[in-house]
Order: sequence, then C-alpha cells, then structure tokens
Amino acid sequence: MSIAAGSSARPAGTPPPEASLPFHLRGNYAPVAAEVTAFDLPAEGIIPRGLRGRYVRNGPNPKTGQSPHWFVGDGMLHGVELRDGRAVWYRNRWVRTRAFAEDAPPFRPDWTRDLTVGRANTHVVAHAGRILALVETSFPTEVTPELETVGCFDFGGRLATGMTAHPKICPRTGELHFFAYSYMPPFLTYHRADAGGRLVQSEVIEVPGPTMIHDFAITDGHVVFMDLPVVFDLELAMAGTMPYRWSDEYGARVGTMPRGGTSADVRWVEVAPCYVFHPLNAYEDEHGAIVLDVVRYPELWRAGFSGPPARLHRWHIDLAAGRVSENALDDRAVEFPRFDERRLGMRHRYGYAVHTPHGADHSTGTALVKYDLRDGVSAAHDFGAGRVPAEPLFVPASSSAAEDEGWLLTYVYDAARDGSDLVILDAADFTGKPVATIALPQRVPFGFHGNWFPDPA
Ligand SMILES: [Fe+2]
Repeated sequence: MSIAAGSSARPAGTPPPEASLPFHLRGNYAPVAAEVTAFDLPAEGIIPRGLRGRYVRNGPNPKTGQSPHWFVGDGMLHGVELRDGRAVWYRNRWVRTRAFAEDAPPFRPDWTRDLTVGRANTHVVAHAGRILALVETSFPTEVTPELETVGCFDFGGRLATGMTAHPKICPRTGELHFFAYSYMPPFLTYHRADAGGRLVQSEVIEVPGPTMIHDFAITDGHVVFMDLPVVFDLELAMAGTMPYRWSDEYGARVGTMPRGGTSADVRWVEVAPCYVFHPLNAYEDEHGAIVLDVVRYPELWRAGFSGPPARLHRWHIDLAAGRVSENALDDRAVEFPRFDERRLGMRHRYGYAVHTPHGADHSTGTALVKYDLRDGVSAAHDFGAGRVPAEPLFVPASSSAAEDEGWLLTYVYDAARDGSDLVILDAADFTGKPVATIALPQRVPFGFHGNWFPDPA
C-alpha cells in the first residue's frame, strides 16, 4: 500500500476533552483533516472478482472541524475501487461546492435560497453518465469517477429548485424521479428526468405548509410523497441550526400520484403522526393497494435533536378506501435501510439496515440487520465489540442474479485502532464470516449514503 498524500489525524483545533463536544464532532463522527490517496489496499479474505467498479459513500466532514449540526458539514466522498479481486485504490475528497471553495452564503440578502450553494454531503448517485453528490437544499454537484468536483449541475438550466438526496431511478424506464422541498412556496415540487438525463417534468405539489421531506418512494404506477409533522421554524433558522422541529398540530399524510400525473391527481391519506427519513421500498400489491415499508420514528425533534428510535413498519395504502393501515415488522431499532434496487417500485423480499440499539442519541451499535419480509424473519450480523458498521449497500452478483444473490458493502469503524475497513458480506450468507475485509488508510467518519458504480459492461 502507498499513501500519496495526507494523514488521518483529526483537525488541529479539535479540542480535548471530546466529551465536551456535540456528538457529531466526537469519536468517529469527528471529521478527518486530510484527503488521502492510497493504492493496493491490504485485504483479508477474497474480494469477489464479480465486483468491478467503485463503492463511494458521502457524509459531512466540516473543513473547519466545526459545524452546528451533523447534517450541515461539508460533503466528503470516500471511495474504494475494486477490480480483479484487488482493492485498487482508496480516495477521500471533499466536494468542492461553492460553500466549501468560496465560503459562499446559502441565502441572499432577501433570504431567498441560492441553489448554487450547498454542502453536497448526503448521497451520491449516478444517472445518464453523470455522478451527482447531493444534499436536499441545493442543486446537485457533479463529480468524476475519481471523486474530483466538476461543478454545480442544474439540468442545463431547467431545474429551478433544489434536489432531494434520494432520487429514484426506475429500473423499468431508466427515468430519474425526484423532488424538492422548501421553506418558501412552492413547498414541494416533483421532477422527472428521462433516461438520457433531460428534465421533462416539474410539477408543484400542493401541501399545507413547509415540512422537512427527506425521501419518497415510487412504485410501477405511482409516486408516493410523505408530508409529516417536522415543520420549518424561523427561530431555529435565525439561530443558524437545523430549522425544523416536531409539530403536534400539522398532522401527517401520505400522497399518491399516478406517474405522469399532476398535483390535482394526488390522493392524500392520513397516517398516524410520525417521521420517516427513509422508506425501504414501495410496490403495488395484487389488489392495487400500495405497500410502503418505512423506517418510522414515533416522533422527531420535539425537544432538541434527540428522541426515540425508529423501527421498520409497513404501511398498506388502500387507495379505494382512502385508508392506511400500519404495522411494525420488527422490534429492532434501525436506520439506513437498503435493498436490491433492481426491485425498486416492485415487490421486494429482502431488506438490510443498520441496527441502532441506542436510538436517536447517535451512539452506535455493532450490527447490521437483514429482513426476509416474505417469511417475516430477520437476522443480525454483529461485527464484534467496538466494530461499528454503516449503511449496507447491496450489489447484485450479476445483472441476472436473483434478489439477495450478491454482496453487502459497508464501511466498518474499528474503535480499537481508530481506523476503518471496507467489509464485504455475502448477502445470502448474511450471518457468516465476511467475504473480505479491506483495511483503509484512514478512518471513515460515520456518514450517510453511498452507491456502487460498476464498470461499463
Ligand atoms: Fe437519507
């Protein structure tokens, strides 16, 4: 292994003792100080030869070492290229947004949002030949396969809102479905780009007020929006922190719009108040009802930014009756659900998530969870004391592989050595020994979401 630049030390100025810092600046939430490039990484086990491409994950890594909330640090991408059974390189790069490079302010003097300024810290998604680093408040930032920043991308001037960090690529049509929410009207806008990346539909969706809408779902026939009671709060905005809080008054609704429809076609159905950052997947059952699996918090940010943990629930949306039934699918607290995205919008059997036994106080557990939702069973893969996994990403063994036939990739933080590994599990042998454990040249701070970018076939 060779390291071309940098070290993994914490930023100068991060003051001990760590206990006095907010959670997102302590331990493995703390940012790393350097951009590192390393080649030929050491691995235990056998890296599957079927994995040919790059695993890239995004997360906040404030360049100053300081930020008022976990969600608002500068985006940093951590990537590993795998090929011919080797871990060819590791790279981490800040996304050089205008916020990062120019300290450009996100708001203009009249408090409107400058959509060219964002932290690009939440997800990274490839569509129509572009790799986009995403944060839900601004335009995407295009990056190269080697994680260098190209610049702001606004669909050739057609996009007039921000973009969720959780767009959906329909496996049937190749279309990119996404939305934006805003603290100013229009509060919610739906967008659709065709398989070639051309923005072909932008549709204002009427909702009663400004809520935080992190993610959504699509089925073969519908787009599903969640309008849940975490509402914009001007006082929090003025204080410079996350400007959203729980509301006992707003209510909670799920809206279903036929694909290709308009706001007038959206059918809103009430659900019990709750919050959902992430659905697992949605599909239409044989009776035309929409089944939506969600990681559901009973409430969020009622007082400060902690609260009870989330569990996987199933919503059964009966469009004919205008009713949603809800049931918990597992007792475990989880977050960061993923599944085989070749099943996006279609009936899925399996899901994977991070076990979060300590709930929303952000202390982390050591296990991933796998759900078999057909048989109603789940299993945990525990990485052992002090070894903390992140979002598990499913990569199919081949384009014709069955659901669950493939690998789960995750960055695992090892507290004993204050370092990280890229760990590969066999999804079908979930509780078995990892297939490969690749030692990285520096720790990867806990972050958000990632994707696999395969080599062209
Ligand atoms: Fe997310």
